[in-house]
Amino acid sequence: MAQELEMENSNEGTLQRLFQRLVAMMSGFLQWLFFTVLSVGPIPNHIAFIMDGNRRYAKSQKLGPGAGHKAGFSSLISILESCYKIGVKYVTVYAFSIDNFKRDPIEVQSIMDLMLEKIDELLKEESIVSSHGIRINFFGNLELLSEPVRMAVAKAMVETAKNTNVVLSVCVAYTSTNEIVHAVQESCREKIAQALLNSKFNCEMRDFERGYNTLSKVDCSITLEDLERHMYLAECPDPDLLIRTSGETRLSNFLLWQTTFCYLHVLDALWPEVSPWWLGWVILHYQRAKPYIDKRMKVL
Ligand code: FPP
Repeated sequence: MAQELEMENSNEGTLQRLFQRLVAMMSGFLQWLFFTVLSVGPIPNHIAFIMDGNRRYAKSQKLGPGAGHKAGFSSLISILESCYKIGVKYVTVYAFSIDNFKRDPIEVQSIMDLMLEKIDELLKEESIVSSHGIRINFFGNLELLSEPVRMAVAKAMVETAKNTNVVLSVCVAYTSTNEIVHAVQESCREKIAQALLNSKFNCEMRDFERGYNTLSKVDCSITLEDLERHMYLAECPDPDLLIRTSGETRLSNFLLWQTTFCYLHVLDALWPEVSPWWLGWVILHYQRAKPYIDKRMKVL
Protein backbone atom coordinates (compact mmCIF):
# COMPACT_ATOMS: atom_id res chain seq x y z
CA MET A 1 0.00 0.00 0.00
CA ALA A 2 2.80 2.38 1.01
CA GLN A 3 4.67 1.44 -2.18
CA GLU A 4 1.60 2.22 -4.32
CA LEU A 5 1.21 5.60 -2.63
CA GLU A 6 4.89 6.40 -3.22
CA MET A 7 4.56 5.49 -6.91
CA GLU A 8 1.45 7.65 -7.25
CA ASN A 9 3.28 10.61 -5.67
CA SER A 10 6.29 10.17 -7.89
CA ASN A 11 4.05 9.99 -11.02
CA GLU A 12 2.30 13.15 -9.89
CA GLY A 13 5.70 14.88 -9.42
CA THR A 14 6.86 13.83 -12.91
CA LEU A 15 3.61 15.08 -14.46
CA GLN A 16 3.96 18.39 -12.62
CA ARG A 17 7.54 18.83 -13.81
CA LEU A 18 6.50 17.98 -17.40
CA PHE A 19 3.66 20.47 -17.24
CA GLN A 20 6.00 23.19 -15.87
CA ARG A 21 8.52 22.50 -18.64
CA LEU A 22 5.73 22.69 -21.24
CA VAL A 23 4.51 26.04 -19.86
CA ALA A 24 8.11 27.38 -19.83
CA MET A 25 8.62 26.25 -23.44
CA MET A 26 5.34 27.81 -24.57
CA SER A 27 6.16 31.06 -22.80
CA GLY A 28 9.68 31.07 -24.33
CA PHE A 29 8.21 30.51 -27.79
CA LEU A 30 5.59 33.28 -27.36
CA GLN A 31 8.29 35.66 -26.10
CA TRP A 32 10.49 34.83 -29.10
CA LEU A 33 7.50 35.49 -31.41
CA PHE A 34 6.74 38.81 -29.70
CA PHE A 35 10.37 39.97 -29.93
CA THR A 36 10.63 38.84 -33.57
CA VAL A 37 7.59 40.95 -34.44
CA LEU A 38 9.04 43.88 -32.45
CA SER A 39 12.37 43.69 -34.24
CA VAL A 40 10.63 44.60 -37.51
CA GLY A 41 10.16 48.13 -36.10
CA PRO A 42 12.81 50.58 -34.85
CA ILE A 43 14.79 49.27 -31.89
CA PRO A 44 16.29 51.82 -29.49
CA ASN A 45 20.07 51.96 -29.73
CA HIS A 46 20.42 52.99 -26.09
CA ILE A 47 18.03 52.24 -23.20
CA ALA A 48 18.47 53.69 -19.70
CA PHE A 49 16.78 52.27 -16.61
CA ILE A 50 15.94 53.73 -13.21
CA MET A 51 15.63 50.48 -11.27
CA ASP A 52 13.19 51.68 -8.64
CA GLY A 53 11.09 49.75 -6.11
CA ASN A 54 13.51 47.11 -4.78
CA ARG A 55 12.85 47.79 -1.07
CA ARG A 56 9.10 48.00 -1.65
CA TYR A 57 9.26 44.64 -3.41
CA ALA A 58 11.06 43.06 -0.45
CA LYS A 59 8.45 44.53 1.91
CA SER A 60 5.52 43.37 -0.23
CA GLN A 61 6.96 39.83 -0.34
CA LYS A 62 7.80 39.91 3.39
CA LEU A 63 11.48 39.31 2.55
CA GLY A 64 14.43 40.34 4.67
CA PRO A 65 16.49 43.51 4.14
CA GLY A 66 18.72 43.28 1.10
CA ALA A 67 16.56 40.63 -0.59
CA GLY A 68 14.84 43.26 -2.75
CA HIS A 69 18.14 44.46 -4.23
CA LYS A 70 19.24 40.86 -4.81
CA ALA A 71 16.00 40.19 -6.70
CA GLY A 72 16.61 43.49 -8.52
CA PHE A 73 19.95 42.22 -9.78
CA SER A 74 18.32 39.03 -11.17
CA SER A 75 15.80 41.22 -12.92
CA LEU A 76 18.64 43.30 -14.38
CA ILE A 77 20.28 40.20 -15.86
CA SER A 78 17.07 39.00 -17.51
CA ILE A 79 16.38 42.49 -18.92
CA LEU A 80 19.96 42.79 -20.21
CA GLU A 81 19.60 39.40 -21.96
CA SER A 82 16.47 40.61 -23.74
CA CYS A 83 17.93 44.02 -24.62
CA TYR A 84 21.03 42.58 -26.20
CA LYS A 85 19.06 39.81 -27.96
CA ILE A 86 16.75 42.32 -29.60
CA GLY A 87 19.64 44.50 -30.83
CA VAL A 88 20.01 47.25 -28.21
CA LYS A 89 23.69 48.26 -28.19
CA TYR A 90 23.86 50.44 -25.06
CA VAL A 91 22.19 49.91 -21.69
CA THR A 92 22.68 52.35 -18.82
CA VAL A 93 21.41 51.69 -15.29
CA TYR A 94 21.11 53.92 -12.22
CA ALA A 95 22.55 51.59 -9.58
CA PHE A 96 23.34 54.02 -6.76
CA SER A 97 22.94 57.78 -6.50
CA ILE A 98 25.15 60.11 -4.45
CA ASP A 99 22.02 60.83 -2.38
CA ASN A 100 21.67 57.12 -1.57
CA PHE A 101 24.75 57.46 0.68
CA LYS A 102 22.41 59.26 3.11
CA ARG A 103 20.53 55.99 3.75
CA ASP A 104 21.04 53.84 6.83
CA PRO A 105 24.74 52.81 6.76
CA ILE A 106 23.75 49.14 7.15
CA GLU A 107 21.65 49.34 4.00
CA VAL A 108 24.41 51.19 2.10
CA GLN A 109 26.89 48.50 3.15
CA SER A 110 24.53 45.73 2.07
CA ILE A 111 24.10 47.27 -1.42
CA MET A 112 27.88 47.72 -1.73
CA ASP A 113 28.45 44.09 -0.65
CA LEU A 114 25.93 42.99 -3.26
CA MET A 115 27.75 45.00 -5.92
CA LEU A 116 31.08 43.42 -4.97
CA GLU A 117 29.58 39.93 -5.13
CA LYS A 118 27.78 40.56 -8.43
CA ILE A 119 30.71 42.27 -10.17
CA ASP A 120 32.74 39.19 -9.32
CA GLU A 121 30.03 36.95 -10.77
CA LEU A 122 29.80 39.06 -13.93
CA LEU A 123 33.50 38.58 -14.61
CA LYS A 124 33.26 34.80 -14.53
CA GLU A 125 33.72 32.85 -17.77
CA GLU A 126 30.12 31.63 -18.02
CA SER A 127 28.43 34.97 -17.27
CA ILE A 128 26.28 37.13 -19.53
CA VAL A 129 29.29 39.46 -19.96
CA SER A 130 31.35 36.92 -21.86
CA SER A 131 28.41 35.36 -23.73
CA HIS A 132 27.34 38.76 -25.15
CA GLY A 133 30.78 40.45 -25.26
CA ILE A 134 29.71 43.24 -22.93
CA ARG A 135 31.97 46.16 -22.15
CA ILE A 136 31.17 47.40 -18.63
CA ASN A 137 31.67 51.03 -17.64
CA PHE A 138 31.08 52.47 -14.19
CA PHE A 139 30.30 56.18 -14.10
CA GLY A 140 30.02 58.60 -11.21
CA ASN A 141 32.18 60.10 -8.51
CA LEU A 142 33.97 56.79 -7.94
CA GLU A 143 36.13 58.32 -5.20
CA LEU A 144 33.06 58.15 -2.95
CA LEU A 145 33.13 54.34 -3.11
CA SER A 146 34.98 52.26 -0.55
CA GLU A 147 38.38 50.91 -1.57
CA PRO A 148 37.23 47.30 -2.28
CA VAL A 149 34.29 48.44 -4.44
CA ARG A 150 36.47 50.97 -6.27
CA MET A 151 39.01 48.24 -7.02
CA ALA A 152 36.33 45.80 -8.20
CA VAL A 153 34.84 48.47 -10.45
CA ALA A 154 38.28 49.29 -11.93
CA LYS A 155 38.98 45.58 -12.49
CA ALA A 156 35.64 45.10 -14.28
CA MET A 157 36.35 48.06 -16.57
CA VAL A 158 39.87 46.86 -17.41
CA GLU A 159 38.84 43.22 -17.96
CA THR A 160 35.95 44.08 -20.26
CA ALA A 161 37.60 46.99 -22.11
CA LYS A 162 38.39 44.73 -25.07
CA ASN A 163 34.73 43.73 -25.55
CA THR A 164 33.16 45.58 -28.44
CA ASN A 165 29.72 44.02 -29.02
CA VAL A 166 27.56 45.93 -26.54
CA VAL A 167 28.01 48.35 -23.64
CA LEU A 168 26.63 48.32 -20.11
CA SER A 169 27.08 51.58 -18.20
CA VAL A 170 26.49 51.37 -14.47
CA CYS A 171 25.98 54.73 -12.77
CA VAL A 172 27.21 54.49 -9.17
CA ALA A 173 27.83 57.37 -6.78
CA TYR A 174 26.20 59.30 -9.62
CA THR A 175 23.96 62.31 -10.00
CA SER A 176 23.48 64.31 -13.13
CA THR A 177 24.32 67.58 -11.37
CA ASN A 178 27.60 66.06 -10.15
CA GLU A 179 28.35 64.94 -13.72
CA ILE A 180 27.77 68.49 -15.02
CA VAL A 181 29.94 70.08 -12.28
CA HIS A 182 32.65 67.51 -13.04
CA ALA A 183 32.50 68.39 -16.76
CA VAL A 184 32.80 72.13 -15.99
CA GLN A 185 35.77 71.56 -13.67
CA GLU A 186 37.55 69.33 -16.19
CA SER A 187 36.91 71.84 -18.99
CA CYS A 188 38.39 74.66 -16.85
CA ARG A 189 41.43 72.55 -16.01
CA GLU A 190 41.93 71.74 -19.67
CA LYS A 191 41.64 75.40 -20.74
CA ILE A 192 44.13 76.57 -18.12
CA ALA A 193 46.57 73.80 -19.02
CA GLN A 194 46.28 74.71 -22.71
CA ALA A 195 46.79 78.41 -21.93
CA LEU A 196 49.87 77.69 -19.84
CA LEU A 197 51.28 75.46 -22.54
CA ASN A 198 50.63 78.03 -25.28
CA SER A 199 52.27 80.86 -23.36
CA LYS A 200 55.18 78.63 -22.24
CA PHE A 201 54.51 80.07 -18.81
CA ASN A 202 56.30 77.99 -16.22
CA CYS A 203 54.12 76.91 -13.32
CA GLU A 204 56.55 77.91 -10.61
CA MET A 205 54.59 81.19 -10.43
CA ARG A 206 57.78 83.21 -9.76
CA ASP A 207 56.39 85.98 -11.85
CA PHE A 208 52.75 85.91 -10.77
CA GLU A 209 51.83 89.16 -12.49
CA ARG A 210 53.28 88.10 -15.82
CA GLY A 211 51.51 84.74 -15.53
CA TYR A 212 48.18 86.36 -14.69
CA ASN A 213 48.48 88.77 -17.64
CA THR A 214 49.31 85.94 -20.00
CA LEU A 215 46.36 83.87 -18.82
CA SER A 216 43.90 86.75 -19.05
CA LYS A 217 44.83 87.29 -22.72
CA VAL A 218 43.96 83.71 -23.62
CA ASP A 219 40.40 82.78 -24.57
CA CYS A 220 39.34 80.53 -21.68
CA SER A 221 35.65 80.41 -22.56
CA ILE A 222 34.08 76.98 -22.26
CA THR A 223 32.00 75.71 -25.16
CA LEU A 224 29.19 73.16 -25.34
CA GLU A 225 31.60 70.77 -27.07
CA ASP A 226 34.07 71.12 -24.16
CA LEU A 227 31.37 70.13 -21.67
CA GLU A 228 30.09 67.25 -23.76
CA ARG A 229 33.61 65.85 -24.10
CA HIS A 230 33.97 65.79 -20.32
CA MET A 231 30.63 64.20 -19.43
CA TYR A 232 31.00 60.79 -17.79
CA LEU A 233 28.87 59.28 -20.56
CA ALA A 234 30.68 61.09 -23.38
CA GLU A 235 31.40 57.86 -25.23
CA CYS A 236 27.75 56.74 -25.34
CA PRO A 237 25.11 58.16 -27.65
CA ASP A 238 22.20 59.82 -25.81
CA PRO A 239 19.55 57.34 -24.67
CA ASP A 240 16.55 56.87 -26.98
CA LEU A 241 14.40 55.38 -24.24
CA LEU A 242 14.39 55.81 -20.46
CA ILE A 243 12.33 53.41 -18.36
CA ARG A 244 11.55 54.03 -14.70
CA THR A 245 9.78 51.43 -12.62
CA SER A 246 7.53 51.66 -9.53
CA GLY A 247 5.24 54.37 -10.90
CA GLU A 248 7.48 57.30 -9.91
CA THR A 249 7.29 60.06 -12.53
CA ARG A 250 10.60 61.82 -11.70
CA LEU A 251 14.09 61.70 -13.21
CA SER A 252 15.76 61.87 -9.77
CA ASN A 253 18.90 63.60 -11.08
CA PHE A 254 19.60 60.90 -13.68
CA LEU A 255 20.94 61.75 -17.17
CA LEU A 256 19.39 65.24 -17.17
CA TRP A 257 21.93 66.41 -19.77
CA GLN A 258 21.38 63.45 -22.11
CA THR A 259 17.59 63.09 -22.24
CA THR A 260 16.36 66.04 -24.33
CA PHE A 261 14.94 63.81 -27.08
CA CYS A 262 14.56 60.66 -25.06
CA TYR A 263 11.21 58.85 -24.84
CA LEU A 264 10.33 58.41 -21.17
CA HIS A 265 8.18 55.53 -19.95
CA VAL A 266 7.06 54.88 -16.39
CA LEU A 267 6.01 51.36 -15.43
CA ASP A 268 3.89 50.70 -12.36
CA ALA A 269 5.66 47.39 -11.72
CA LEU A 270 8.46 47.33 -9.14
CA TRP A 271 11.93 46.68 -10.62
CA PRO A 272 12.25 43.04 -9.42
CA GLU A 273 8.85 42.29 -11.00
CA VAL A 274 9.89 43.52 -14.43
CA SER A 275 10.17 40.78 -17.05
CA PRO A 276 11.11 40.73 -20.75
CA TRP A 277 7.35 41.03 -21.49
CA TRP A 278 7.32 44.45 -19.84
CA LEU A 279 10.36 45.48 -21.85
CA GLY A 280 8.65 44.42 -25.08
CA TRP A 281 5.54 46.36 -24.09
CA VAL A 282 7.57 49.56 -23.54
CA ILE A 283 9.46 49.13 -26.82
CA LEU A 284 6.07 48.87 -28.55
CA HIS A 285 5.14 52.26 -27.03
CA TYR A 286 8.52 53.66 -28.10
CA GLN A 287 7.92 52.50 -31.67
CA ARG A 288 4.58 54.29 -31.73
CA ALA A 289 6.12 57.52 -30.39
CA LYS A 290 9.30 57.42 -32.53
CA PRO A 291 7.91 59.18 -35.68
CA TYR A 292 6.72 62.09 -33.52
CA ILE A 293 10.08 62.35 -31.67
CA ASP A 294 11.97 62.27 -34.99
CA LYS A 295 9.75 65.06 -36.31
CA ARG A 296 10.39 67.22 -33.20
CA MET A 297 14.14 66.68 -33.57
CA LYS A 298 14.01 67.95 -37.15
CA VAL A 299 11.87 71.00 -36.28
CA LEU A 300 14.35 72.31 -33.69
C1 FPP B 1 16.60 51.66 -6.08
O1 FPP B 1 15.63 50.93 -5.32
C2 FPP B 1 17.78 50.80 -6.36
C3 FPP B 1 18.98 50.88 -5.75
C4 FPP B 1 19.30 51.91 -4.74
C5 FPP B 1 20.09 49.92 -6.03
C6 FPP B 1 19.83 48.92 -7.11
C7 FPP B 1 21.02 48.06 -7.29
C8 FPP B 1 21.01 46.84 -7.87
C9 FPP B 1 19.78 46.22 -8.41
C10 FPP B 1 22.31 46.06 -7.97
C11 FPP B 1 23.14 46.55 -9.12
C12 FPP B 1 24.44 45.85 -9.13
C13 FPP B 1 25.29 45.87 -10.18
C14 FPP B 1 26.59 45.15 -10.05
C15 FPP B 1 25.02 46.54 -11.44
P1 FPP B 1 15.30 51.37 -3.84
O2 FPP B 1 16.33 50.78 -2.91
O3 FPP B 1 15.26 52.89 -3.82
O4 FPP B 1 13.90 50.77 -3.51
P2 FPP B 1 12.54 51.61 -3.18
O5 FPP B 1 12.28 52.46 -4.40
O6 FPP B 1 11.51 50.55 -2.97
O7 FPP B 1 12.81 52.41 -1.94
